Amino acid sequence: MSKQRAQWSGHLGFILAAAGSAIGLGNLWKFPYITFENNGGAFVLVYLAAIAVVGVPIMVAEVLIGRKSQRNPVGAFRVLVQGKPGGRAWMGVGFLGVMTGFIILSYYCVIAGWTLRYILMAVSGELGALAHHPEALQSFFGEFLANPYQQILCHSLFMGATIGVVFFGVGKGIERTARFLMPILLSILVMLVIYSIWTPGFKQAIGFLFRPNFSELTAGGVLEALGHSFFTLSLGMGTMLTYGSYMRKRDSIPRAALTICVLDTLIAIMACIIMFSIIFSYDFEVTKSSTILFTTVPVVFFQLPGGAVVSALFYLLVAFAALTSTISLLEVVSSYAIDELGWGRRRAALTTGSAIFVFGILSAVSMGGNAALSNINFIGRPSTGGVFGTLDYMASNWFLPVGGLLIALFVGWILTTGETRKELEEGHGTLARLYPVWLFLIRFAAPAAVAAIIVSVLLGAEYQ
Ligand code: PHE
Repeated sequence: MSKQRAQWSGHLGFILAAAGSAIGLGNLWKFPYITFENNGGAFVLVYLAAIAVVGVPIMVAEVLIGRKSQRNPVGAFRVLVQGKPGGRAWMGVGFLGVMTGFIILSYYCVIAGWTLRYILMAVSGELGALAHHPEALQSFFGEFLANPYQQILCHSLFMGATIGVVFFGVGKGIERTARFLMPILLSILVMLVIYSIWTPGFKQAIGFLFRPNFSELTAGGVLEALGHSFFTLSLGMGTMLTYGSYMRKRDSIPRAALTICVLDTLIAIMACIIMFSIIFSYDFEVTKSSTILFTTVPVVFFQLPGGAVVSALFYLLVAFAALTSTISLLEVVSSYAIDELGWGRRRAALTTGSAIFVFGILSAVSMGGNAALSNINFIGRPSTGGVFGTLDYMASNWFLPVGGLLIALFVGWILTTGETRKELEEGHGTLARLYPVWLFLIRFAAPAAVAAIIVSVLLGAEYQ
């Protein structure tokens, strides 16, 4: 490996790309709907606690492993474990990550593809006609999901775009896209939140989100909140590790990690405020919660003048937010092929991307398009989700938390404090002084919290 590793152009470059990875469908599509399913309040609180106690320290840990090793997830462990307890077995954590990235990207791209259909519909005027009748919009959406050809077409377009960006590499492809899009997305969301303050359902939405009712919280819900904190921050599978490997030595890891976590959480909460205000204002009957992003927001847009333009812009931004996440997922898998199998970047992006696309077809036709695939269920899991739901459930509720737990143990106990301290104090941020706090969280608090939740669910605590 004599070639010099590519790097972000600077501190902001890393933050934008990593925030671009973190902010995506997890915030705009998934968080609102699982919060709805878990009755808000207490679930939101557990999620926020998970971000603070588990998410932030593990984000620091992942970036640290990446920057220190300058490798992909598998190579990183290979380099760092030399002469340490456990040895090469730790590389398994890297493999688990690459596999999880493969799985997540396969269904994530399908959901992301939905935004393309919406952009088209907004422009053609179709969306406007439907949005005046929320039930019509819902039933249209059901038909769209059940149409395998449209699902596969949208999925392929989105995967094509993802492969295109990864093909061109770190600086030119990934960073440039994020630098341009993140600020626009943030401003549109702020505008929508301001708008929702004047809707009649706003107060109820805030109550739903922030008034905890612990009797409604289940062990399954706690696991879901924990799993989602990994999913939304792109943690537990080596994404932040891979992006960290392109980070300059002189930039501060803690500062970057905190900024990303705060931004990501703000956006998730804003998305909830926007969507719940609509749901409560219009007495909206939610028939399929996983479609909230696509069935609620247009209703508001078309109450206003210029609905077609605003909604086209909105779904375009959701598409871009998803794209900055899909490229990070593909980057994990391809950087593995590049570093470990010695492939060129272009070959890696094309080959791994195509394989993931093919696997993703299973999810694309599992939304009602194919009865058998739509009804497959993870043993004991209550809600039906088909292939897509099952993969999402396994990846985000199990693989990511387990990966994250192992990463925390590795950084907390296998690397020496000398090694970690050096990497974190580089960049000399004032935050580096919080090293002892981070060390406590990564050694004790984070692993204990993740392990306790996993064990309580395994022991058969009530599911949902
Ligand atoms: N964090 C992304 C989102 O919230 C999804 C993601 C998960 C991306 C894992 C990379 C790795 O949409």
